[in-house]
Amino acid sequence: MADDFDVTPFDVEGTVDYDRLIEKFGTDEIDSELKQKFFELAGDSNLYVDRDFIYSHRDFDKALDEYESGEGFFLYTGVGPSGKMHIGHIVSFYFTKWLQEKFDVNVYIQVTDDEKYWDRDITDEEIEKYAKDNIREIAAVGFDPDKTFIFRNREYMGNMYDGIVKIAEKVNNSQASSVFGFEGSTNIGMNFWPAIQNVPTFFEEKRCVIPAAIDQDPYWRIQRDVAEKFGHKKTAAIHSKFIPALTGPEGKMSSSKPKTAIMLGDSPEEVEKKVKKHAYSGGGDTLEEHREEGADLSVDTSFQWLRNLLMEDDEKLKEIAEKYSSGEMMTGEIKEILIEELNEFLQNHQERKDNADEKVEKMMYEGQLAQEMWDKNIDLNLVR
Ligand code: TYM
Repeated sequence: MADDFDVTPFDVEGTVDYDRLIEKFGTDEIDSELKQKFFELAGDSNLYVDRDFIYSHRDFDKALDEYESGEGFFLYTGVGPSGKMHIGHIVSFYFTKWLQEKFDVNVYIQVTDDEKYWDRDITDEEIEKYAKDNIREIAAVGFDPDKTFIFRNREYMGNMYDGIVKIAEKVNNSQASSVFGFEGSTNIGMNFWPAIQNVPTFFEEKRCVIPAAIDQDPYWRIQRDVAEKFGHKKTAAIHSKFIPALTGPEGKMSSSKPKTAIMLGDSPEEVEKKVKKHAYSGGGDTLEEHREEGADLSVDTSFQWLRNLLMEDDEKLKEIAEKYSSGEMMTGEIKEILIEELNEFLQNHQERKDNADEKVEKMMYEGQLAQEMWDKNIDLNLVR
């Protein structure tokens, strides 16, 4: 039977069956054994992984073994500056920061001011505006400024170009079109794009680990096909699910569909209004029905966001789950809890964003890692 959902780096359609997606993409589940080892080495547990929001991986077990043996790994993630960022976009960055803190490793962040020009109907002025804004959002997450390098492709291209040339020679049109569904009408920039999104996985000799939502996985398949030809390790990846749209479990939160998203810059009033008006409820249609049947937590946006993103207190979450699913708690009440938690998270994030200028300078140009990277060329030493 054909699946009634589709996940590509460009879009998510339907209600995603995440177990089925693991089979489809050929990735591995983060099972309890891996979780245990991960938390032991990190010296702490992580909310997203604990709650199975971050749930799948490729070779992350190998990266942990290499960390244990002293070889280590490095982290890479990115953003496409095609709009303002929403809370879904920032999850991978908070998780990456957590990994940096626990494992004391370098982080590379690619800002794709080329990809979005090719992929969207968007002007250079808009890209410029969003790239600057997105970089400030990312700086607000709180990465170590001497161990983090944020780069914009159009600016850093000279240092990466040799590596990109070598990767591009190894990927042919059939691979690119079968992995990404490129067609005759796709512009040739996008055809070339997988080589650019993959070059940062070669920034260090060690294994790269990529935290991102699972939509980005098709790129890593290309990398894993070519890496060993360059004497490099296949990249590891650690995949999250999608923060569901405010409006319900179909598709994902998307800045191009305003009703579906809470933006990182939303005010407390906007958050309240959006949640009250649009947050999809798993509760019963009428009071009687709700009291009798309770809420379906699996489709309820408020519960899913609290569980996957915001509510650290296990006991409190359990209590909400019990009360809401039994019909004792009403949708209006869980929405109030969500509004409060969201506003607290956003207020802290926004304050850090307001004070991000110095951090941006360091992570792009002046910090220790940034300076090293501006002096370096990525040379993949291909022996032909
Ligand atoms: P972009 O800008 O579409 O997305 C940025 C990051 O956010 C993740 N994401 C989500 N995560 C959870 N819930 C959602 N609803 C949601 N929507 C998006 C994406 O998976 C991504 O991690 N081509 C990339 C930019 C890029 C990149 C990378 C991303 C370049 N190099 C390396 C990850 C890793 C893009 O356009 O991302």
